[in-house]
Amino acid sequence: MTSIQSLWPSPNADLTDEQLLELYAPPVGPWLRMNFISSLDGAVTRDGLSGGLGDEADHRVFELLRRWADVVLLGAGTARAEGYGAMRLPAEAERWRVEQGLAPQPVFALVTRRLDLDPASPIFTDAPVTPLLFTVSDAPADRRAALSEVAEIVDAGETVVDPAVVRAQLEARGHTRIHSEGGPTLFGAFLEAGVVDELCLTLAPTLEAGTAMRVTQAPQSAPTAMELAGVLRGGDELLLRYTKRADAGPDAQGVTA
Ligand SMILES: NC(=O)c1ccc[n+]([C@@H]2O[C@H](COP(=O)([O-])OP(=O)(O)OC[C@H]3O[C@@H](n4cnc5c(N)ncnc54)[C@H](OP(=O)(O)O)[C@@H]3O)[C@@H](O)[C@H]2O)c1
Repeated sequence: MTSIQSLWPSPNADLTDEQLLELYAPPVGPWLRMNFISSLDGAVTRDGLSGGLGDEADHRVFELLRRWADVVLLGAGTARAEGYGAMRLPAEAERWRVEQGLAPQPVFALVTRRLDLDPASPIFTDAPVTPLLFTVSDAPADRRAALSEVAEIVDAGETVVDPAVVRAQLEARGHTRIHSEGGPTLFGAFLEAGVVDELCLTLAPTLEAGTAMRVTQAPQSAPTAMELAGVLRGGDELLLRYTKRADAGPDAQGVTA
């Protein structure tokens, strides 16, 4: 197993899983965390997938981060591209969660305007907890009917899903530790709406060029000042943690280019 060391704020070599979990413990109260990996030149995919970018350290932290989640939130594009199955954490993670007083498994929540998801997908058929689908009121009626058999469908906008409604709906269900695995379109929309508290970003030691997206994809810019919360190193990967500055936001004065 690749050793992961903390470089900042507290230097510490060869962190155990327990120490990593402690470092990544979300604050008390509602918290929305995004988790991404990017190449040094900003690509979020190689050959259309994120998997080719990550090494062992990233995979280890990726799995550990899920443990803290009340809900794992995903854009439908990522679910389709990456071939997601059911959100089912392994038995060891389940035991750990129960010890922390969390539900044995997180809820899987997907954001989709078109509801272009197969009801026979393992996302639904193998789900330990009924997934949530956040969609729009004008989503295709036939898909809505088919998917309502296997998921709870929540309208969160008319023609586009409003991230503030998603967050409020999750919190109203008691899902305050919101962990998102992307992708870029979802992150762009959520950033623009000002509902993202934290970014966990793995910098993969590779340059990719090409036409891959960056971590955010949005028609509008939404400058959001972030502050450094932690730096880990695993081999040549850096695992960075940034939280939104208290005065951050698209209209904040403190934002610098
Ligand atoms: N490097 C990384 O860490 C990382 C992480 C995640 C994903 N990725 C990569 O990113 C690529 C996918 O990018 P993407 O931007 O398509 O991913 P995405 O954000 O997961 O998916 C976009 C889709 O999600 C739905 N969606 C997102 N925001 C919405 C909103 N506000 N309202 C309504 N629907 C919304 C729509 O689904 P419908 O089309 O169903 O309406 C939209 O087409 C893949 O290649 C994946 O491998 C990389």
